[in-house]
Amino acid sequence: MCGIVAYLGGRRCEPILIEGLKRLEYRGYDSAGLAVLSPKGLRIERAVGRVANLEDKLERLGGLDGALGMAHTRWATHGGVTEANAHPHRDDRSGICLVHNGIIENYAALRTYLEEKGHKFHSETDTEVLAMLVGELYEGDLEHAVQAALREVTGAYAICVICEKEPGVLVCARKGSPLIVGVGSGEYVVASDPSAIVAHTTQAVTLDDYNVVKITREGFRSSTIHDVDVTPKVMQLELDLEQIELGSYSHFMQKEIFEQPKALRNTLRGRVDLDEGKVVLGGLSNFGKDLVRARRVLLTGQGTALHAAMIGRYLMEDVGKVPATAEYASEFRYRNPLIEEGTVVVAVSQSGETADTLAALTEAKDRGALALGVVNVVGSTISRETDAGVYLRVGPEIGVASTKAFTGQVMVLTLISMFLGRRRSLSGERGQMLIEELQKLPDKIERVLEQDRTIRRVTERYIERNNWLFLGRGYNYPVAMEGALKLKEISYIHAEGMPAAEMKHGPIALIDQGMPAVFVANKGPQYEKVMSNIAEVRARGGHVIAVATEGDEHIKTVAQDVLYVPDCPDCLSPILTVVPLQLMAYHAAVLRGHDVDKPRNLAKSVTVE
Ligand code: AGP
Ligand code: GLU
Repeated sequence: MCGIVAYLGGRRCEPILIEGLKRLEYRGYDSAGLAVLSPKGLRIERAVGRVANLEDKLERLGGLDGALGMAHTRWATHGGVTEANAHPHRDDRSGICLVHNGIIENYAALRTYLEEKGHKFHSETDTEVLAMLVGELYEGDLEHAVQAALREVTGAYAICVICEKEPGVLVCARKGSPLIVGVGSGEYVVASDPSAIVAHTTQAVTLDDYNVVKITREGFRSSTIHDVDVTPKVMQLELDLEQIELGSYSHFMQKEIFEQPKALRNTLRGRVDLDEGKVVLGGLSNFGKDLVRARRVLLTGQGTALHAAMIGRYLMEDVGKVPATAEYASEFRYRNPLIEEGTVVVAVSQSGETADTLAALTEAKDRGALALGVVNVVGSTISRETDAGVYLRVGPEIGVASTKAFTGQVMVLTLISMFLGRRRSLSGERGQMLIEELQKLPDKIERVLEQDRTIRRVTERYIERNNWLFLGRGYNYPVAMEGALKLKEISYIHAEGMPAAEMKHGPIALIDQGMPAVFVANKGPQYEKVMSNIAEVRARGGHVIAVATEGDEHIKTVAQDVLYVPDCPDCLSPILTVVPLQLMAYHAAVLRGHDVDKPRNLAKSVTVE
């Protein structure tokens, strides 16, 4: 979760670390801290709340000098949100100082062991245990002490470690949580993701699980926790600063909603062959035969990615002509799933680092499934663990509430379903029709975005209401769930999304005078059924906000408010119908005065179970 930035080089590191932490703020956190090592010794400063609080504190202290340091934003897992629990943590003997993202699962046993050895703890965190353990095992070589400590640890970690006794050395390691080493000229910037690195260098080294990197001004060495040399994997970071800056927008979420037409043009680029009515997915080309033989597709993810996977399930059966299911990764991995021959598992994830999704993928792979990834972040752990995959290409998503990644995921899943379908019974003609319609979607999204003011006005009308329902059917049932998730995660309004027919089986009891019920009521095969559900809500005093197809005049007679989207085939409609719901959630959060990009309690990427 949250973030790490570390620096070793010739410049004063404090401003670089603070700037890096700000770039990582979007990942979600509750406290921040940094450590700087200079000839005058080690200084650690920490603060609860925003990075700005830490900055204020440093300013009051007159700043810290030193060209080796590391900084951290914490998303508490063990111990409350207090300054004492904030990182960096240090040991009580050897001058070790450490920052950590993740969870040390066997921390309790290690803590008892270390307390028996006389170590005194100052925090409730699992991380301090690791700092003490490195200190306990330190015999004059930081790299070896870190390797030895990590051999004793179970859980997930990305760590950076420094030692007062070795002022020119920075050691980092990872298992499960992300960490990359940016290699500049005579300097290194280590961080949880490229956004904190690209201002300094675009060359980076990635770490695999159980890798340790020792960095000095002279160079670096990669090894495993068992001290076996590892050939470093160098990659070019494809991210420019503009992509991670706000520009003229007020929030990243807003920017990302409005970027969707451009993002989806990128997703499609070079991947369709209109003449043949087929899609061309380089990432899957070596697996064509396996996919023809596929007997079942199992899609998995969490949160918004799961909603995309649920739409993917409909697509795989309807367009791909192959039986499919979609399931929470967190449930899949623990239910002893039966994987038959010919199963293809598709892991859907923006970040490519979600712990539950990664674990489900590994579980399915171990049981013989072919593993595909539908991932945004290039080089992320899930993208590396899959046998093959298709990147979203929607650019970095900074807002915690996922928007352009969702439409990108649905677009890629559509392409994969066509890839499968054309190898089965999907006709070239239907393939051509779908390609033409896919190509029109970015322009159609523009048309939805033009209604931004109307959408804000409608949202304003209901802004005092604390309970909302989101309802849809078929392809748009997951969209209803996504609309509810968007609203609750950034505006803190309670919302439930469900299949419209399910309402009668209980939730209808919630409907009272004026309760907002958002219906995805586009012109699809279940339009008439949705109309009946709308009538049921109206009969009980609920207020209906309908997302409907342009030209549908009838809907105005049954819904209090109507937001129109252009017409398109039902299987592609989620890419349009979700957009007004994203904007409603955005405006609700702004109108309620919340921090849209950094909602409370949430992290952008959930790298713990
Ligand atoms: C989306 O708005 C959420 N913040 C969250 O549900 C997210 O989609 C989920 O955690 C999965 O993340 P991933 O796509 O990076 O795997
Ligand atoms: N588990 C550690 C803690 O609670 C690290 C959490 C994090 O990833 O920030 O301090």
